Amino acid sequence: MANVTLSHVYKNYPSEKGRDIPAVEDVSLEVADREFLVLVGPSGCGKSTTLRMIAGLEEISRGDIFIGDRRVNDLAPKDRDIAMVFQNYALYPHMTAYDNIAFGLKLRRYPKLEIKKRVMDAANVLGIEELLDRKPKALSGGQRQRVAVGRAIVRQPKVFLFDEPLSNLDAKMRVQMRTEIAKLHQRLQATMIYVTHDQVEAMTMGDRIVVMNHGKVQQNDTPLKLYREPANLFVAGFLGSPPMNIIRGTLKLERDALAFREADGGTIEAKFSSHLHPDAQVLLNRPVLFGIRPEDIELAQICRFTEAANFPAIVDIVEPMGAETNLYLQTGAHTIVCRSQQSLDHRDAGRRQQFALNLTKAHFFDPESTNRLA
Ligand SMILES: Nc1ncnc2c1ncn2[C@@H]1O[C@H](COP(=O)(O)OP(=O)(O)OP(=O)(O)O)[C@@H](O)[C@H]1O
Ligand SMILES: [Mg+2]
Repeated sequence: MANVTLSHVYKNYPSEKGRDIPAVEDVSLEVADREFLVLVGPSGCGKSTTLRMIAGLEEISRGDIFIGDRRVNDLAPKDRDIAMVFQNYALYPHMTAYDNIAFGLKLRRYPKLEIKKRVMDAANVLGIEELLDRKPKALSGGQRQRVAVGRAIVRQPKVFLFDEPLSNLDAKMRVQMRTEIAKLHQRLQATMIYVTHDQVEAMTMGDRIVVMNHGKVQQNDTPLKLYREPANLFVAGFLGSPPMNIIRGTLKLERDALAFREADGGTIEAKFSSHLHPDAQVLLNRPVLFGIRPEDIELAQICRFTEAANFPAIVDIVEPMGAETNLYLQTGAHTIVCRSQQSLDHRDAGRRQQFALNLTKAHFFDPESTNRLA
């Protein structure tokens, strides 16, 4: 098995108008041996391009890629010891599941017995022994996906690359396959790089997540670190559903304490007991963005926050989710989403109530750089 290193990798696609399209810009990252790394970001951010450069299916415009300690920039895909699973499976329709899985090994002239052993082992791991005689058209989407994964497993590659392998499956099947791939990772002890635009998939599967936007790495961290300490507004908004509330306002010093006041005539005011961080000095007396996650807002009467700021708001929309309730609040200036532990329903809409912000979970962002202040 092996680690994968990208060092200042760029990809420019030539365009017809003569100006290159920068698809990937200065991406550097290191995937440790046996790590499960997820690349996540919105459509068009350069995830597939990055993966395809690692696979050798796309030329690198600038930079270096290493697998193990070998620089692979000029190495043919078949010599890189990787296997890739694509979104559209790309199974051969006229071949049985068995032959689809065995195909790559046959091409490489593996002995028949060895092929059989590997295919049966993979089928066992994936629970598809009974399906090996069937052709793809007689398989469900999830079963086809397993065959495609089987084809990667039998190669026993150093590195597995997955490009949105679950996006053609229905929601329930996706959740099931998600856990199966996670289990597979534990069983095979292989290095895996997994591309998705689904933040839930990223959060639940990755040892580490790389968030990309516009071809650039926004943050590279563990799932919880990304969620709790997003580097910038983009990451804060991308992970979490409903996303983090962002409230415009100003920060002032009032009797040595930091105070936030919502702009545009809103009702949110918060006084912080903690001391002003030296970095925050630059934010005083000018527009600032205050970030708070929906679960860090609660009805004042039931909240248990140790440091809270109360504000009145009208409950616009009530969304009962079962375990909790999403409330869309009007504060006068902004709509704010609260994820309440209280069970409420549509009859509670339209009421004016007191809400509390958990100030120990508050974030501040510089509106110009969009970076979060530690
Ligand atoms: N062959 C190509 N020629 C020109 N531009 C391309 C080519 N392939 C991709 N691009 C552009 O490069 C950018 C990154 O594309 P890429 O396929 O890597 O995105 P992605 O993050 O995988 O998106 P998605 O989630 O939609 O699959 C996009 O702006 C895309 O239009
Ligand atoms: Mg893609």
